[in-house]
Formats: sequence, C-alpha cells, structure tokens
Amino acid sequence: MFDEDFDENAQIPEQSLILFGATGDLSKRKLYPALYRLFQKHSLPKTFRLVGVARHGYSNEEFRKFVRSSIETYSREDPDMSSFDEFSKLVYYRGADATKSEEYGELKKLVESIEKDAGMAQNRLFYLAMAPRFFGTVALNLKQSGLTQLKGFKRLVIEKPFGRDYASAQQLNDELCDVFNEDEIFRIDHYLGKEMVQNIEVLRFANSIFEPVWNNRSIANVQITSSETVGVEERASYYERAGALRDMVQNHMLQMVMMIAMEPPSRLKTEAIRDEKVKVLRSLRRFSPKETASHVVLGQYSKGSVDGSEVVGYRQEPNVDSASATETFVAARLFIDNFRWAGVPFYIRTGKRMAVKATEIVIQFKDMPKHLYFNSDGNLSPNRLVIRVNPKEGIYFSLNAKRPGTDETVIPIAMEFSQAPENSPESYERLFYDAMRGDSTFFTRWDEVSLAWKFVDPIIEAYQEQLGVELKFYPAGTSGPEAAHRLLAQDGAHWWPVFGEKSALEQQPEPARAATEVVSS
Ligand code: BG6
Repeated sequence: MFDEDFDENAQIPEQSLILFGATGDLSKRKLYPALYRLFQKHSLPKTFRLVGVARHGYSNEEFRKFVRSSIETYSREDPDMSSFDEFSKLVYYRGADATKSEEYGELKKLVESIEKDAGMAQNRLFYLAMAPRFFGTVALNLKQSGLTQLKGFKRLVIEKPFGRDYASAQQLNDELCDVFNEDEIFRIDHYLGKEMVQNIEVLRFANSIFEPVWNNRSIANVQITSSETVGVEERASYYERAGALRDMVQNHMLQMVMMIAMEPPSRLKTEAIRDEKVKVLRSLRRFSPKETASHVVLGQYSKGSVDGSEVVGYRQEPNVDSASATETFVAARLFIDNFRWAGVPFYIRTGKRMAVKATEIVIQFKDMPKHLYFNSDGNLSPNRLVIRVNPKEGIYFSLNAKRPGTDETVIPIAMEFSQAPENSPESYERLFYDAMRGDSTFFTRWDEVSLAWKFVDPIIEAYQEQLGVELKFYPAGTSGPEAAHRLLAQDGAHWWPVFGEKSALEQQPEPARAATEVVSS
C-alpha cells in the first residue's frame, strides 16, 4: 500500500478537507494563504470542499470573511483576490468543540450533505491544526462518530510537536494508529516543505560530481545553522515546556542532517527515501547523559539588541518564569557512525534572538595538504558548498583561484546561484498538495520520529539531571554563547557565518573582495 501505489502523474483525487482549529493562528497565517494559492494555480482537486471546524459560532458567510481577511493579511505577496468569491463557494464551517464526542454527529451530517451536493466521492483529509494534546481525543472521536468509516480514503495531517519525549510520542502514535494506518498519517515537519531542503536530494542525486566526494575522504565537517531573530513571541506557554531541543532539534535540524547524510535510495520513491533517511538516525551516535556535556551547548538569550532595537532577555518575556531554565539555543557536535561519515563531525546550531534570520547548510571540504606550494603558509581557504535554505534560497560554492594580475596570490572566489524565494511555493502549499495526492515523501514516518526522540531524550535528561550541561547566556542579537564557538575550536574548526552575518570574506583586505565580486554571479 505504500509508494508503489502512488502515481505522480495521476489527477489529484476529489476530496474534502476537514480542518480542525480553523480559526487558529496556523490556519490563518499559513493554511488559508496556501490553499488559496493552490486554488489560483489550479492545483486543488477538481472537486474540493473545505469544512472548517472550531469553537467560534461562525456562519458559513462569517467564516468565509475570516478566511478572506486571513489571506489578505498573511499572504507572502499581495494576493490577487479576484477569484476569492469562486474559492469561497468551496468553503464551509461548523462550530463545534472537537473534544466532545457528542458534537461530531452534526459535523458528520454536514460533511455528508456537502459531499452529496457536490456529487463527490467520500475521500476525507482531516487536518488537526490544534494543540497536540487534543490529537488522540479527536482521532478517537472521528472514529466513534463514523466520520472515518468511508468508501473512499481517509488521511490525517498533524503538526509537530509529536509528543514531548519518546514515551509520550509512542503513546500518541498508538492512539492515532487505532484509527489511521501509518500510510494514512501525514506528520508535518514544515522544513521538509522548504524548496531548498527538497532540493538537497536533487543536488546530490542529479549531479555526478557530488557522490564521489560526499564522504569522509573529502569532507571535513558539515555545519547546519538555523538562526532566528525573533524571540519567543506569544508562545511562552508552549515554549517554556519545549525549548529549542524539542522545538527545533528533534525535528527540523535532524531532518536536514538526514537529507545531507542519507545514502542514495534504491529508487526515488517515498519509502525507499524514508528508509535511507531513517538509517542515518540509526547510525547517529547517541550520547549517554554523561557524555552530553562534551558535545552539546545549551544557551538562553539575555537582553540585547536585534536589528537596532533593544529587546528583553528570555526570562523577562511575558509569561516566562523569571528563573526559567528553558534553552533558546542549542549547538551540538553529532557523529554518524557508518562507513560514509565515520570521523566527520556534523555541527548543528539553532537559536532564537540571534544576529540574523538564516537557515544554511555548509559542507566544508578537507584542507589541501599543508606542504603544497599554494598552501605553504597554511592560509588556503577550504572549499565550501553552502546550501542556503531560508530566507535567501540558493547554492554557493567557494573555490580558490589566482588573483588576476598576480603570479601566485591565491584568493577565494565564489560561484553563486540564487533563486527568488517568491517563485518557490511556500512549505504549506507544497505539503497540502502532497497530502492531497497521497505523497508522503516529505512527511515524517513514525520510525524517524521515534529515533529522533531517542537521540534527544538523553540530552534533555543530562540537562535536567545537571550532569555537566549548563545553561550559557548570550546577549540577544549575537551568534550565541561563546561555548558554541569553543565547541568547534576544540576540533580546529569554526562556524562559517551565515548570510548576513559578517563573513570571513568581508574581513579580508579589499583586493580579495573585489576579485570575488567579479567572479560572483
Ligand atoms: C517552528 C518552531 O517549527 O519553526 C518555531 O516551532 C520556529 O519556534 C519555526 O520559529 C522556524 O521556522 P522557519 O520556517 O521560520 O525557519
């Protein structure tokens, strides 16, 4: 029933989308703009209906106005609303408390009558854009009400976080699997919907130059940074219980590690790809709580300045405990113990209230042998392949070349490709489209989720049990705590600045920069 059944070229089957949490933040900021874009691009199923479910007592008309204003307010570019009236005819609303089983009878009647009026098959995509603590209850209510007993297909889309440790994730999975099969569950990690994260696979497996060097013979280290300038925003109640390890590392950061480190799949098919990704997590060295302090740095932002504005420290943020120990920054040195990667550190770091907003992956190639002529002073820059995920999208490759007009001066030059992010579909657009087609390649499978927790849990334990992992503070607007720099310095490495940070090239004397600018495109 897995990938073999998925036909890329098949028409998207007609279906209704039953969206729980229809008046929430995620729905208005991301989901309606994404659905409307798909509608405008004729990428929704030919027959499609959206039924929003939330507690508000909206009528259909009021809900349509709500959807309209969400699209107007939150679309990435100024949306063309001329086809909204047509789109709104596909939109319905049912006010209900999703935790109460008795409220599902009316919902079922509504969905059935909409399907009947539209003459469409009973294919239902249930999307839970709500707090994870409700997932299990809603799934059970869906089952007991008969909404999931269908002639057509049923699918479930859920947001992260999937549990808060392995045990709770396992329990949640059991609850969901009581109602949905694994191949019907689409667990979202929105990083997998990012254009450049998806592009990693193409870069690696559509270019013959990379495979021969994509290993520990040629690569010195891999660095994955996801830095944000925002603080905790209005999410303290969630973030206080999560922290960066659960919020970013367990999911987004490890997903990027998997995409970089996976073996070529036997076929470019969903399960073949996910099988290879999961093997990376199986080879990922798990630190015992005692070892953790040597490889992991946790930090929390204190007051500082971001983009020229003074900002408060994490502990002074609204609804945050004034003695909170929640980490807003993580840096770690990971090892993937297999033949391809043995000995190559994968450095990851992520933090809030850092200097710039950027997600980047740097593949740093090995240094040239020290005695070689061009490297006699040991100053030759290593080659780097940089995959810029966000907000700038592109690829950057740094090489060494002769400075024009000199005999032997070697300078780093850059070959750069950038693509306009506005041409890339937004993550949710892509993920909706895939879920509607039944393509789960860029969703996370249960074994990935569970192994990711098994990696992160001992780190959290080491921190909670105070086994040498201490919280380091960093001023808002910086690149994180000093300890994160020392972590790499121990290996004779350093973090490469992400786009927008003061770069190593910028620190070079003028002529080198000028030469670089000439060859950049
Ligand atoms: C979310 C986290 O999953 O990802 C947020 O919960 C974080 O805390 C966000 O801000 C970052 O996503 P992006 O796409 O802006 O890098």
